Amino acid sequence: MKLIELQRITKHYHLGQTPMTALKDVSLSFDKGEFTAVWGPSGSGKTTLLNLIGTIDEPSSGKVLIHGEDVSKMSDNRKSEYRNKKIGFIFQNFNLIPVLNALENVMLPLQIRNEKTRSAKSRAMDRLSQVGLEHLALNRPDMMSGGQRQRVAIARALVTDPEVVVADEPTANLDLATSMGIMDIMQKLNQSEGATFLFSTHDQRLLDRMTRLVRLEDGCIADGPAN
Ligand SMILES: Nc1ncnc2c1ncn2[C@@H]1O[C@H](COP(=O)(O)OP(=O)(O)OP(=O)(O)O)[C@@H](O)[C@H]1O
Ligand SMILES: [Mg+2]
Repeated sequence: MKLIELQRITKHYHLGQTPMTALKDVSLSFDKGEFTAVWGPSGSGKTTLLNLIGTIDEPSSGKVLIHGEDVSKMSDNRKSEYRNKKIGFIFQNFNLIPVLNALENVMLPLQIRNEKTRSAKSRAMDRLSQVGLEHLALNRPDMMSGGQRQRVAIARALVTDPEVVVADEPTANLDLATSMGIMDIMQKLNQSEGATFLFSTHDQRLLDRMTRLVRLEDGCIADGPAN
């Protein structure tokens, strides 16, 4: 069984009167342990695709299966459990909680799982140090640069050791050395723990490190290996 399977997915958005189709009949699947980037021009549907896999959004038609289970048939509780227990999501716009400091933001997914504060704090600090931000642990997001916020979002996504990491342009705001350091951390998690990674990116330097590439153009898969 595939870890994630998209079957004939179409996604329409409605902007006022005009419908727009962000994904057109996309079928795609991912096995455990894959390290994949979805790439393609701005507006080609990358974020839309990642949001469907993260169960943050629903397709207009077609099915998303996770471990063979149809997401459209999951209860809200089951979806929340999947998001908290199995997946780490790095949003293109970070989605940090503005009133919490960096450490509290990173601790949050562990606290939702009822992990004890002391242990949540220590795991969150470890991840913050890995992304080079231990010195800013007590700063709120509005006291940080774009690249620093992005790294907090990365630490938050990785703190639970998720089975699947969905990362929407995770290095868009980072310099080369920092990007490569972050990629090293993710590659290590992939190789040592078999975590599955799905990126979207424009960054050519990231593409070289992937085991699989899926190109999107205008809502369709343009090339890449047969799925
Ligand atoms: N909430 C929405 N309402 C209406 N249209 C949307 C919405 N979200 C995305 N779209 C449209 O769907 C298409 C695909 O958008 P998407 O965000 O998936 O692209 P992308 O490949 O992630 O682009 P980028 O590289 O700029 O992040 C675009 O034409 C966009 O304008
Ligand atoms: Mg996007």
